Amino acid sequence: MGAKARPRRSCLAVPGSSTKMLTKAQGLPADQVFLDLEDSVAPLAKEEARKNVVAALNDGDWGGKVRVVRVNDLTTKWTYRDVIEVVEGAGQNIDCIMLPKVQTAAQVQWLDMLLTQIEQTMGLPVGGIGIEAQIENAKGLVNVDEIAAASPRLETIIFGPADFMASINMKSLVVGEQPPGYDVGDAYHYILMRILMAARTYDLQAIDGPYLQIRDVEGFKRVARRSAALGFDGKWVLHPGQIDAANEVFSPSQEDYDHAELILDAYEYYTTVEKRGAVMLGDEMIDEASRKMALVVAAKGRAAGL
Ligand code: GLV
Ligand code: MG
Repeated sequence: MGAKARPRRSCLAVPGSSTKMLTKAQGLPADQVFLDLEDSVAPLAKEEARKNVVAALNDGDWGGKVRVVRVNDLTTKWTYRDVIEVVEGAGQNIDCIMLPKVQTAAQVQWLDMLLTQIEQTMGLPVGGIGIEAQIENAKGLVNVDEIAAASPRLETIIFGPADFMASINMKSLVVGEQPPGYDVGDAYHYILMRILMAARTYDLQAIDGPYLQIRDVEGFKRVARRSAALGFDGKWVLHPGQIDAANEVFSPSQEDYDHAELILDAYEYYTTVEKRGAVMLGDEMIDEASRKMALVVAAKGRAAGL
């Protein structure tokens, strides 16, 4: 499987300042972990958090999870030291660096160049560490196409609803839920679709951000199902209780998976043995486009072990 297609149904946030959570996260069934140096870490704990994250990456057993470190954004003084300390300290155990609040392609290119220099210095494979870009404000969204094209290291574009809502003055305090008073549709639809189009254009994964009502698993599923239905690949989880829900929502159901495999088998038979294009499968007409849709579901099902 290519790096860009790594499983990311559930992406678990782990504060870098909490050694307890850095240990606990290792045994949880999330597809990805991101060890955070940004908003879950207080300014006075940032330097200590870098050391905790390096130690957890080098000494921990992450059991095949995708290992990501979220650094601070480029409007702060912390970003360059975050990248240098964690990649010099644990680069061989990092799959991606996540850059929050990305606003321009140049910011991604800055990270790409810095990673190249550190990889060269440390004798790591050049280009081996990927980049995940968070879109968290209007400027980032307006520039999302160029951001998605900015570096071959990019693997995902992530929607950050909390910062995004704040940046556009959306009138809600409940992250992930609809703003009260907007009763004509989904207030996030445009943003999600915009991110999804940029991601798909450049063959990246599209990841939905957090749902902060961590005890409301049904609410989490309701919101997750929306982005999953559009085609998003996964969602952030902030609490162990959200992990199984994300893994379930971002995997096809057994029924859909079986149906997809049936379409693939039938289509293969009719097009190669009978040399026909559009054919009937029960009451359903299938053609080359149906095959492509079935392939997407089948690939996700196979990755989920169905
Ligand atoms: C995540 O970083 C968010 O702001 O939603
Ligand atoms: Mg944020």
